[in-house]
Amino acid sequence: MKRLFSLVLLVALSAQAQHALNATGRWQHQPVGHAPTPPMGWSSWNAFRVDITEQKVMDSARVIVDSGLAAAGYRSINVDDGWWLKRRSTDGRLLVRTSLFPSADLGPGRDSSLRPFTERIHAMGLKAGLYTDIGRNACSQAYDADSPNLPEGTHAEREVGLMGFMEQDLKLFFDEWNFDFLKVDGCGLSSYGADRPHVASGQYRAYKPSLVEGSVNQSDIEGTKKLYADLNQSMRKIRPKGDYVLSVCLWGTANVRSWGQDHGSMWRTSRDIWKGFAQMVHNFDTVATREFYAGPGRWNDPDMLEIGNGDFGDGQLLEARTHMGLWAIAAAPLMIGTDLSKASSALIDILKAPEVLAINQDPAGHQGVIAYADSDRQILVKTLADGRKAVLLFNRSGAPAKFTLTAEHLKMDATAPVALRDAWARAEAGSFTGRREFELQAREALLFTATGKHLLPRGYFVSERPGHVYVARDGLRALEQDPIIYRAMASWSSTDNGGTRPAYAGWGGPRADSTPYDQALSVQRQPFRHGIGVLADSRLQVQVPAGSQRFMARVGVDDSTRGKSVGVSFEVWGDGRRLAATAAMKFNQAARELSADLRGVKLVELIARQHGADSAGSVVVTWGDARIE
Ligand code: GLA
Repeated sequence: MKRLFSLVLLVALSAQAQHALNATGRWQHQPVGHAPTPPMGWSSWNAFRVDITEQKVMDSARVIVDSGLAAAGYRSINVDDGWWLKRRSTDGRLLVRTSLFPSADLGPGRDSSLRPFTERIHAMGLKAGLYTDIGRNACSQAYDADSPNLPEGTHAEREVGLMGFMEQDLKLFFDEWNFDFLKVDGCGLSSYGADRPHVASGQYRAYKPSLVEGSVNQSDIEGTKKLYADLNQSMRKIRPKGDYVLSVCLWGTANVRSWGQDHGSMWRTSRDIWKGFAQMVHNFDTVATREFYAGPGRWNDPDMLEIGNGDFGDGQLLEARTHMGLWAIAAAPLMIGTDLSKASSALIDILKAPEVLAINQDPAGHQGVIAYADSDRQILVKTLADGRKAVLLFNRSGAPAKFTLTAEHLKMDATAPVALRDAWARAEAGSFTGRREFELQAREALLFTATGKHLLPRGYFVSERPGHVYVARDGLRALEQDPIIYRAMASWSSTDNGGTRPAYAGWGGPRADSTPYDQALSVQRQPFRHGIGVLADSRLQVQVPAGSQRFMARVGVDDSTRGKSVGVSFEVWGDGRRLAATAAMKFNQAARELSADLRGVKLVELIARQHGADSAGSVVVTWGDARIE
């Protein structure tokens, strides 16, 4: 009986899995709030931690306006952790610490309110952001225990997070206080286990934990996702016009790098940034291979900027520019994290650099794709809306390094001139045919826009426009931590343990111009410089522009596959109709041409369907030269 039951369950589950593989014919990404380009603004955290006051926030907001940063796009002024006094026990209303936010004190007998604050911010032409936690308690209560500004009172009064009060708090933040942006942290889920000193001592009520940093297997992924899905649903009701930004802050845990796009406008892909160069590189790496997960309305978030602080201060403008260039090419949200009242004009100029911001804010919303990488050097290329490319050359090392940029990196014709423009100098930087040599200083990143003849004169490779792709199904059978993210020493870590391990799920997700496991694309020894690498049992949705004629690719099982025994068929669907398909193909068979007529089609779905199980592991497939003509 039991066996019969499990058999039925297995069949039901695999039917469900098969179902998820089927084309839907409609773009499945539902925007969360409104973030057509990467959100920009200022946040108090990197500048002040919990040592925050209304005056400090207003001082930076004033500089944002007066220095032209607001005109350049930095609009959201975000109050991070540290604003609350308590949750009132009678009705659960959150009270503001008015000694820090004096304008919230509306006089005797009246409830404290952040409305006067948001009104001041709005009157300056800016938007206002606030911070909360999805659990019962916030991060500061676990990690800033010595701060005099932590919530006070009984257990219940100090439970200032959303859990149990979601609708009520969201209404307070958005209806009554009129905020525009909300960052929702996750420490309430991760940092209040019974064994934590602040819990064991009786200060806080224990919570499971349901989130374990660095361990996807020990984290309750579905439960965490459900909490953010509820948040997203509530926000849709409270702000039906969608005029808000929702920032999911789960530090790359719980596989949020895959599902963040479904429940947030932006989602953190890594642990907290810090003002050290190595940590900044670590954070960058957590977004750099996630090009298919971002696009207009959904942004991978490597965390707030540290420009102006530590390794990115006035003495190190080269590093400050590198940090900015990386966030620009990655289409990352740009949240200034320094005390602007103390920032030099040189730093403000870096934050404001118009051609660098234009690359970040390009309306097409494509994240830069890695065109070259070794441990020390990277070249990333970002397709811009007008057909130009932005290209970043990044010397990660501590010594000067030589780079060769080729037309092929840019997916441009090697026989035609490519004109470069330096985004920092805002000046033409000469042109080259075929290749050009550069020498970069230690930690330097150069950023150009490039104009030239495209490799495909009448079309483009799908991997050039990752923002048009939605990963409806990634084909992953088991979550694994991504080993290629640079494991910087965290600011708080010593070497008294076994080391910093790969911490973020996502290894094996689809990649542009690479296999899911970071190998070069290749089918029966035929290499593909361009294409999509993905696991079998996957479905990728691809938006195509009006007037598209044809999809073409050379498809097959990739030479790097783990599973080598089963067959995979490749299907191309257009607006829910099957347009073309191959028979089942196996490892070591030559790539096959797959071509589909796209006339009238708006949405293409690329399905790689695996026939049977392979005990050796996942089957890696390649959509070689996948292109739209
Ligand atoms: C977490 C977040 C930070 C910041 C702090 C506030 O660590 O990742 O960005 O919001 O909490 O306590």
